[in-house]
Amino acid sequence: MCGIFGCTGRDDLGEVLVEGLTTLEYRGYDSAGLAVVGGSRAAPELRLVKRAGKLSALRSAVDGQDLSGTAGLGHTRWATHGPPTDRNAHPHVGGDGRLAIVHNGILENHEALRAELAGGVELASDTDSELLAHLVAVERDALAREAADVAAGAAQSATVGASVLGEATRRALGRCEGQFALAVIDARDPATIVAARRGAPLILGHGDTASWLASDVAGLIRHTRDVEALMDDQLAILTPESVSVCDLGGNPTRGHRYTVDWDVEAAEKQGYPHFMLKEINEQPGAVRETLLDRFDEHGRLRLDEEWVGDGELRRIDKVYVVACGTSYHAGMVGRYAIEHWARLGVDVEIASEFRYRDPILNPHTLVVAISQSGETTDTVAAAAHARDQRAPVLAVTNVVGSTLARAADGVLYTRAGPEIGVAATKTFLTQVVAVDLLALYLAQERRTLLAEELGDAFVRLEGLPELLDRVLATGDQIAELAAGLAHRDYFMFIARHAGLPIALEGALKLKEISYTHAEGFPAGEMKHGPIALIDDGGPVIALATRSHVRAKLLSSIAEVRARGAVVVAVATEGDTEIRAHADHVVYVPDVHELLAPVLSVVPTQLFAYHVATQLGRDVDQPRNLAKTVTVE
Ligand code: M6R
Repeated sequence: MCGIFGCTGRDDLGEVLVEGLTTLEYRGYDSAGLAVVGGSRAAPELRLVKRAGKLSALRSAVDGQDLSGTAGLGHTRWATHGPPTDRNAHPHVGGDGRLAIVHNGILENHEALRAELAGGVELASDTDSELLAHLVAVERDALAREAADVAAGAAQSATVGASVLGEATRRALGRCEGQFALAVIDARDPATIVAARRGAPLILGHGDTASWLASDVAGLIRHTRDVEALMDDQLAILTPESVSVCDLGGNPTRGHRYTVDWDVEAAEKQGYPHFMLKEINEQPGAVRETLLDRFDEHGRLRLDEEWVGDGELRRIDKVYVVACGTSYHAGMVGRYAIEHWARLGVDVEIASEFRYRDPILNPHTLVVAISQSGETTDTVAAAAHARDQRAPVLAVTNVVGSTLARAADGVLYTRAGPEIGVAATKTFLTQVVAVDLLALYLAQERRTLLAEELGDAFVRLEGLPELLDRVLATGDQIAELAAGLAHRDYFMFIARHAGLPIALEGALKLKEISYTHAEGFPAGEMKHGPIALIDDGGPVIALATRSHVRAKLLSSIAEVRARGAVVVAVATEGDTEIRAHADHVVYVPDVHELLAPVLSVVPTQLFAYHVATQLGRDVDQPRNLAKTVTVE
């Protein structure tokens, strides 16, 4: 949800900012812009370029312009207030035009602030963010007046870290309600960037001769691995030589500083036409990584961090999984494993609904919050609500140091590496495997599985990467199927039991990147209504791998075929009988039915990918979406 990138200490700011935004474009691509403090040392000035549309429009606009300078900010936008036009693109300029701001988030009291500023300033956009630029400028002018009073012998004027811009930003934020990650530059303080956050991510980068900031580490790893995640209600002052952090009360503090271990290549396409295809193909390795080193020296399964004690875990009597979108589907898959192996009741909840229905939570309720980014506002808020009710929260996330990871009592990291495609693929698979691990861990602590059974289950998990390689080999067959079906205007996905989340996920992926209407249904529900949608040749994709309810699924397939549906079945290798029930069959290797979703989801990802490319869609940056949703 909007990408922010900034640098102080490099002269070639135009190139540096556009390159930084390139790694963040997946966060929003309605418009893009940059501002640098350039001009001469004696008379620094603000230079601004912004364009509606994708980053390519900005790239063309900056071509040939002198955008060298001392400090600069860039922004890719996912529109909330105001349509995606040039004037609504960030950065926004405040005061006399020498100060610029980039913002990710929503100002909830924007109407009051707009009314307050109305008499004094002329607004140049429809955004809430521009108000922030003016507020900082107003505070900066007030500070200048205070400084003049000091010079005239009046009381001392207090500034954050001796920075007028820092203090002006701090005071302005004191008047703002809502969420923000923001950064400010001012031609009067040419080498300084001030940044602050509340509820939206911002990572600072420590370099030897330059300092950086970005909405996520993917933007920084080209320049530094020494990073510091700013926490909520913290403000940072960056100069080429230093990064200092204080809270919004002005007291010195620190963010969460750590070293990033992702490499630059991991965030590049490496010859694939799209990130999504690369990430689908990376799944065997990602699953392998997530399973690595999961036993302690006593042969006991462990999570990533020490958290609630064993005794407490044995007292857990209920599990809630909270998540959004694809992560929600991963939680649905995990429910089968937790209930079956750990014998605990599990409810899987859409995070944006969870806290508003007043769920019954207490110290014996385990809340598992799943989010690849660890920044999804709905999921972070659901986890915070659970903690307020004294329920222990375990985060399952791909991002070290993310808001969710820091807010939870314990963390289980998926180790998928950076995922750039907006459609989640490898993070989904690793989430499923992580929740399977959690199920086994709970079974171990609650002693619902014998050590031998636990070992067997883990060995099955360890076998998945090799089997995934075999599933990926179906790519050509799926591309051919997709070519034949791509122009249909409606797809149904049906399944039962642990296959159901894959039906929902397959439909979501297809909608998301091909813009084709698709829906997933429990196969048994078809006859209660959705079967009315079937017409001659309507494609139905059935997740029909080996399971104890396969015969029942075959009945549902027969019912839709009887009404003219063309059926594509994802089935288990060796199942020749299925050929009589389906028009097309894609085979995946045979595994335990609780693990089958890890394999059967891959053909649905590939199908969505190939349908989308057949239709000429922008696979990695589908319309209207953003990778990380940091607004409610
Ligand atoms: O970062 P998160 O896992 O919390 O994101 C949740 C959803 O926004 C995300 O899964 C979304 O549905 C994806 N674009 C699906 O491909």
